[in-house]
Amino acid sequence: MTMKRYYITTAIDYANGAPHLGHAYEKVLADAIIRTHQMMGEETFFLTGLDEHGQKVQQTAEKQGLPPQALCDAVAERFKSLCAQLAVKYDRYVRTTEAGHKAIVQALLQKLFDNGHIYKASYTGFYSARAEQFLQEKDRNENGTWPDIYGEVHEVVEENYFFRLSQHQDWLREYIEAHEEIIFPKFRRAQILEFLKEPLNDLCISRPIERLSWGIPLPFDAGFVTYVWFDALLNYVTAAGYGTPEFEKNWPADAHVIGKDILVPPHAVYWPIMLKVCEIALPKSFIVHGWWLASGEKMSKSVGNVVDPLSLIEAYGADAFRFFLLREMNVGQDGDFSLERFEIRYKSDLGNDLGNLVSRLLNMVSRYAEGKIPAAGSLEEPEETLKALAEKAGREVPELYLGYQFHTGLESTWELVRGINRYAELRAPWKLAKLVEAGDKVRLETTLAVMAEALRIVSVLIAPVMPTIATEVRRLIGVGVVKSFEEAKAWGNSLTGNALGAEGAILFPRKE
Ligand code: ME8
Ligand code: MG
Repeated sequence: MTMKRYYITTAIDYANGAPHLGHAYEKVLADAIIRTHQMMGEETFFLTGLDEHGQKVQQTAEKQGLPPQALCDAVAERFKSLCAQLAVKYDRYVRTTEAGHKAIVQALLQKLFDNGHIYKASYTGFYSARAEQFLQEKDRNENGTWPDIYGEVHEVVEENYFFRLSQHQDWLREYIEAHEEIIFPKFRRAQILEFLKEPLNDLCISRPIERLSWGIPLPFDAGFVTYVWFDALLNYVTAAGYGTPEFEKNWPADAHVIGKDILVPPHAVYWPIMLKVCEIALPKSFIVHGWWLASGEKMSKSVGNVVDPLSLIEAYGADAFRFFLLREMNVGQDGDFSLERFEIRYKSDLGNDLGNLVSRLLNMVSRYAEGKIPAAGSLEEPEETLKALAEKAGREVPELYLGYQFHTGLESTWELVRGINRYAELRAPWKLAKLVEAGDKVRLETTLAVMAEALRIVSVLIAPVMPTIATEVRRLIGVGVVKSFEEAKAWGNSLTGNALGAEGAILFPRKE
């Protein structure tokens, strides 16, 4: 018996420019999902990587006076270092110029060619270099011009190889209709079905080497390289150990995390049909996120309106950046990025709500309890209310995360954070410390113990989103790295007697 892992992928990024906020977001989202599954006790496998072939990469390399491989090597380093700086912990970083990937792509192409799924034909069409695709009449603007998103469009006549897509159209439509769970959010399924109402064209899967040399040569015709999407999509199986026993532990992928621009047709149409003819099972789901916009426009390398994630990480730390992305974005919708909003969330949610709570608790425990978390006495109404709030969050937040509802999961977690602050105001330990009756001391100790316990639960719930901060908070209250969401479900007194890590730790320093 092989143990199936929870296998998640991101799109593989084009190697034609520096990483931007959209790329960072997709990786952070996938990373938070994979950490959620780890905290459910599952084995996991997380793949990300770089899409290195194709016209855009070839052109960018030419412009920079570099061999394409050198460009890809440099870009790969930047993307990998972004992942490291974001605390994005992938298991495998695939690059489509790897020999192993190329060999499998060629073997599958040969198999499809031998079985009659690929044929040669002459083709006349309008080609967009920016989109790396032939356009169709229906892609035109009403006035006959091509939409700006396609960049320069040229008419091209050439011989090429085609993959028979059209004969699988009915099968695909029925499959998508029968598998509602295959796509998140649900409303995107309609977009696929809409696309499948029009007759499917066969897919041109080759490029003549005179036009494009930077690609995987077709195994059955040295005059052509493979169309970049056909090559790129296969990364999900080549990097998961296709052809080895590893593959069964990973495949089918549980989730392909992608942006809405690459769902239809590549992931929702080409990919399932490619898998079907290769006799590989289909992935279980697609998680389709929206775009980060800058003043209403899609952030994109081609447009040049991108936010550099590295400068934000440097200024605010990776966890604050991850928190912002996941707190602001409702997965599936678009979100507008603004530095102003970022700063507000940093200051209020992180600095005032969470950061101050931690430093206040540490200060009070050191001042009133000799630096050790005291034992709680009996719980009265305010304690019970806070406990109920913590238990509610402990139950519902993991469920929300499992449904990709990070924004509401964090909202619920922050209701607890603010609940702890309200509780502290109500009990006012700084006043209790000045009173002299025996009952006041017990109440003071109970307050500190209850605050620490509720904070421990917060540290569990923020872990998939803010792994470093979670670990730091836990170190401060004397507990190790979190392993499971179960730890958020058990309210108890496990912290009693723990010595505090450090006094007055500043988790989110003020920015001027
Ligand atoms: O599409 N907001 O690569 P890519 C959110 N190589 N997400 C964004 C975004 C934005 N402003 N801009 C881009 C490719 N993305 C192909 C994928 S997969 C076999 C091949 C997302 O570098 C985009 O939606 O253009 C995609 O999921 C990912 O970043 C890589 O985009
Ligand atoms: Mg793109």
